[in-house]
Amino acid sequence: MQTVSILRRAARALFSIAGAVVGAFALTLLVTAGAFAQQPASVNPTASSVNEQKLLEALGPQGNVGGRVTIPDARSRTLIQPEGRTYRAERDQSAKIGGLSILGILGLLVVFYLIRGKVRITGGRSGETMTRFGFMDRFAHWLTATSFLLLGFTGLNITFGRSLVLPVIGPDAFTALSQSGKFVHNYVSFAFLLGILLMFLMWAKDNFPALRDIRWFLQGGGLIGLGHPPAGRFNGGQKLIFWSVVLGGAAISFTGYILMFPFQWTDVAGMQWASVWHGILGLVLFAIIIAHIYIGSVGMEGAFEAMGSGEVDVKWAREHHSVWVEKVAAKSGKTAPAE
Ligand code: HEM
Repeated sequence: MQTVSILRRAARALFSIAGAVVGAFALTLLVTAGAFAQQPASVNPTASSVNEQKLLEALGPQGNVGGRVTIPDARSRTLIQPEGRTYRAERDQSAKIGGLSILGILGLLVVFYLIRGKVRITGGRSGETMTRFGFMDRFAHWLTATSFLLLGFTGLNITFGRSLVLPVIGPDAFTALSQSGKFVHNYVSFAFLLGILLMFLMWAKDNFPALRDIRWFLQGGGLIGLGHPPAGRFNGGQKLIFWSVVLGGAAISFTGYILMFPFQWTDVAGMQWASVWHGILGLVLFAIIIAHIYIGSVGMEGAFEAMGSGEVDVKWAREHHSVWVEKVAAKSGKTAPAE
């Protein structure tokens, strides 16, 4: 009798344990199924954020998408300025064209050198020299030249460094280079400005266009065709270089100072305009100057001395600046130096 009741109690305990296990299992199944039912197939964390198109449709009165700020500088309220994309596209495009024009001019000079070779003094030097540029002329030239080259190379690093220099020298060296380059680019601009001002004051009077410049261009400046067309102190090509440097340099400086003192004189659209034009003008002038450096150094026999010692061979002067040689002779009361 006692054995039967023990067996009954054990059977009841077994049933209740099995019931509990089955219940727990069923409950787990229910909860898991519920959780799975709530979970979307793929998680999209930005699903509830504002759609960009909606933001653009809600453009504020200045054409910007903005928020509210409590700091004094109200410009920081701008979140999206749609013209920024047009600006970036224009800047990238002009940088590409500028980069290609620099490569293009280098290529053209190599071809020119291979075909024409060095422009020689016909029949060699005379051995007699005359003064072409005094100390102040040469000081202004080399002040402009060194500052322009420093500005040019640091500017090229700002435009192309990330894609061309960074992969070669690595992030640490590139950071150091670019940081010091930025200081150079800012401060050397004042020396460049002084240089073009001095050049303008000393040389503008000899750089106004003259009728003989047309003939000079038609004859290829004596560089392409045969014979040397008459020219004053500066020939047609040099006048183009001079005004490119003076006017182009002034425009580059103007747009550069707008960038150096952000929002002092203009709004964001003005800053973008200055940035695009600073880049375009800088690259164009750099390409022009490459050609100038070539002809003032390896491209022409006897040219460098004009800016080196200031004394040039009389035969060189007669070939390239015949009208100027006559004028100098007339002023000094002598006849023109012999060839
Ligand atoms: C660094 C290399 C350079 C060399 C070797 C060089 C050489 C020369 C030479 C020899 C002249 C005198 C030409 C003559 O007597 O007829 C000259 C003139 C001149 N240079 Fe340079 N120059 C250099 C860089 C620059 C730079 C960077 C600029 C301006 C950004 C510049 C602007 C001028 C101007 C405006 C003239 C007068 C017009 C002309 O001759 O074309 N030069 N240069």
